[in-house]
Amino acid sequence: MVEGKFVVFEGIDGSGTTTQSKRAADWLRARSVRVVETFEPTDGIIGRVIRQALSCEWPGCEGQELAPELFALLFATDRLDHVNGKIVPTLERGEWVVSDRCYLSSFAYQSVGCDLDWVRSLNRHVRRADLTVLLDVDAEAAYERFAGERRRREVFETVDKMAAIRENYLNIADVLRAEGDRIVTLDAAPSADDVALQVQNALAELL
Ligand code: TYD
Repeated sequence: MVEGKFVVFEGIDGSGTTTQSKRAADWLRARSVRVVETFEPTDGIIGRVIRQALSCEWPGCEGQELAPELFALLFATDRLDHVNGKIVPTLERGEWVVSDRCYLSSFAYQSVGCDLDWVRSLNRHVRRADLTVLLDVDAEAAYERFAGERRRREVFETVDKMAAIRENYLNIADVLRAEGDRIVTLDAAPSADDVALQVQNALAELL
């Protein structure tokens, strides 16, 4: 049995990872590829705790942010369950997986407050992606995309943090590429249609 391919979409909040993951999965299905779509943080037990922490939604929280190390541990725990329980078995069945975020999110987001090597060590057993698409966009432009939404901002949704996370993404992508990972960085500023075309070119090389 030939293993499926593991494709991950990454980028700062507002870069379009959710939109482009869906479009990529649809494009692959139209080419008769069997695809399972998934995302992190998951909708499992740890993922739900993470979502509460991201929006500081629990009694007595009063806007207090969880310590960066705790976020790093929670994301790594959620991921272990996700990758071993869902992603690897899907790939072993010969189906593809398209994930909206995975370990590169932890490297870029959690290394703002924690040591990158420590974050990498927490994730060292995670199956590496066959293709990572990094949607690169300026922090101000990405922030504008959700600035009008009437909801409380999550902890990583400030322009300053987003700019730092973007820098981390670009730097860490270079490091992982040098280690042999296939990471395609795309300009995510154009329309979703234009970005989807660029994504399809990258996917076509995997088919
Ligand atoms: P996001 O994809 O934005 O989920 P949703 O669209 O449902 O809000 O992810 C939630 C946030 O979690 C986002 O700010 C990125 C952050 N994140 C990390 O900090 N580390 C991680 O390892 C992952 C997977 C996400």
